[in-house]
Amino acid sequence: QTIFRGKHFITLTEWTKEEIETLLECSYELKRAFAVDRPTIYLPNKTVFLMFFEQSTRTRNSMEAGITQLGGHAHFLDTSNMQIAHGEVAKDTAVILSRMGHAIACRNCFWKVGNAYLREMAKYSTVPIINMQDDLYHPLQAIADLMTIQEKKGRDLRNLKVSIIWAYATTHKKPISVPVSQVLLFPRWGIDVTLAYPEGYDLPDWVIEKAKKYAEENGGSLKITHDQEEAYKDADVVFPKNWGNWVTNEDTAVIDSLLEANKHWKCTEKMMSLTAKDSLYMHALPADRVNEVEDSVIDGPHSVIYDEAENRLHTAKAVMALTMGGR
Ligand code: CP
Repeated sequence: QTIFRGKHFITLTEWTKEEIETLLECSYELKRAFAVDRPTIYLPNKTVFLMFFEQSTRTRNSMEAGITQLGGHAHFLDTSNMQIAHGEVAKDTAVILSRMGHAIACRNCFWKVGNAYLREMAKYSTVPIINMQDDLYHPLQAIADLMTIQEKKGRDLRNLKVSIIWAYATTHKKPISVPVSQVLLFPRWGIDVTLAYPEGYDLPDWVIEKAKKYAEENGGSLKITHDQEEAYKDADVVFPKNWGNWVTNEDTAVIDSLLEANKHWKCTEKMMSLTAKDSLYMHALPADRVNEVEDSVIDGPHSVIYDEAENRLHTAKAVMALTMGGR
């Protein structure tokens, strides 16, 4: 039996399916308690440090509100105001925060630094490291997405067609954490995943190989296409995304030209009309209502974006309750 206390939450690929099932059960239970205002003081006097190298709305607030609901406390740490700005290394930060609190959560999306930074902290931390998004993974988003799909479509997700559709207009052709985490999670529940994106924006081979292995083991499938219509056709769930505005510090002229080249990769009512009758439109948010989706879709009957965002709270609480307190 798993001892969750102290377990790092860096990627869901390091959690077994049974462990993730426990995480989901815990999330449902915490959501039920929240709905009736039942106290869930499972982490009294516990502190989680929230280190942010980048901006956030959902992740920061779900962690802060979440730890309050669990009876603990969050320290928000803007890393530009920490001694990291003067070169303090991950090891020193991890050891010191470990001695003062009960978990270290970190958002560090810098390419080729993000995940490596979390791994370095995990080597030395004596408390769990919680990934609030790095350059490879966004497990808190993926687990909230899975919970939302289950709430809307039932616990048995076999034969469900879920399409992950994106065009990312960045000058680095780098892996992006949300589709990577989704494609490495959904096939484990027997989902038929379709990945759709413009030619040339492939995810790394190791991600695809691992996702296919998960699909084989669990009765799901993984299809890759560069044809948007194929992805929307009869889909039960769609996750369309254009990452044009996501990456800062890049040449805006280059981004604009990539956005222009990919402008037809936009979720429109016409595209949604191809999906199954009760299909879900989902989005990790923030959404770009100009380049990636029409208002009539994101505010329309298929959209479950606010339920998805709320589930970030309950899944974040479950991660903290289990790793900071659970046995
Ligand atoms: N989806 C997500 O991680 O949102 P934030 O960037 O606002 O935290």
